[in-house]
Amino acid sequence: KGCKLVGCGSAVPALQISNDDLSKIVDTNDEWISVRTGIRKRRVLSGGDSLTTLAAEAAKKALEMAKLDPDDIDLILMCTSTPEDLFGSAPQIQKQLGCTKSPLSYDITAACSGFVLGLISAACHVRGGGFRNVLVIGADALSRYVDWTDRGTCILFGDAAGAVVVQACNSEEDGLFGFDVHSDGSGLRHLNAGIKENESNNALDSNGSVRSFPPKQSSYSCIQMNGKEVFRFAVRCVPQSIENALEKAGLPASSIDWLLLHQANQRIIDAVATRLEVPSERVISNLANYGNTSAASIPLALDEAVRSGKVKAGQTIAAAGFGAGLTWGSAILRW
Ligand code: ACO
Repeated sequence: KGCKLVGCGSAVPALQISNDDLSKIVDTNDEWISVRTGIRKRRVLSGGDSLTTLAAEAAKKALEMAKLDPDDIDLILMCTSTPEDLFGSAPQIQKQLGCTKSPLSYDITAACSGFVLGLISAACHVRGGGFRNVLVIGADALSRYVDWTDRGTCILFGDAAGAVVVQACNSEEDGLFGFDVHSDGSGLRHLNAGIKENESNNALDSNGSVRSFPPKQSSYSCIQMNGKEVFRFAVRCVPQSIENALEKAGLPASSIDWLLLHQANQRIIDAVATRLEVPSERVISNLANYGNTSAASIPLALDEAVRSGKVKAGQTIAAAGFGAGLTWGSAILRW
């Protein structure tokens, strides 16, 4: 049994923050940010903006392109590390889309690798679980977890949502093949936003007796990152992962029409492209306009590339995500 991509969509918040805007709140400048990262501006949720609503907007556009009704969807996977409810937000997207048949919907948490893991999960659900139309959404609002006084991290991130529809098809039409996914928990120290230490004390000690009660209400720390280590990890692991995925797909690197990496840093994208010998004109990049939008970055860039006519039907895309966890993974797809 095969599965293929039949629609995509994306949505970004209205508020745009330029590098010059950031230079008014932290000691930085446009030149430093654009030379080191390639980022020039980003979109950020503000006021009463909701990530869940942004995700539903992206999903609606993907359904329109796929010419499907909300009730054709039998599974919604919301890939996010920043849900607006501790218990997940996929059912709220299902509600906002107006699906009346109560399709299964759940969240996947895997930071910037979330969307690739969502695609792989969708393929497994279609191939092994009998699902026919799966909405895979990547959406994140890291601006809510950034320390806006830390110039090392606040310049990097933006908020966005992107979505695709994965549909069951016969094996000849299969458009999702050659996956490779990994995680390495020992790398947590390089990139994290953990529960605040002084608030994580459990009410019970290891013997089950009451230690402190009631426990304090918990919240998460801002994003902590060792940029150099994350950079090294990405440049080391991502090319290997794409090569593994290509091998599983039985394709050479020369068959890649488009390289579509998680949009974290232009220097990372360039280094991976060079390692895989993919020329720059076959590399998709839109991070200058949006920064690092975590799980949203791949479907957002895909949607722009498809709607602008850059990516054409039948072309092969090597997509790879990488980020906190640490997690990383690749998928070879046909649009
Ligand atoms: N503006 C001006 N100067 C700055 C800024 C800034 N915004 N940020 C740091 N600096 C300074 C530092 O203080 C340092 O100064 P010093 O030499 O006087 O000590 C100097 O610039 C160099 O800083 P580095 O951190 O060494 O700069 P580097 O070249 O490593 O670039 C960067 C930093 C852009 C963060 C880079 O390491 C990077 O992009 N790494 C990957 C990060 C990434 O992709 N993270 C997301 C992962 S996805 C996820 O899951 C969330």
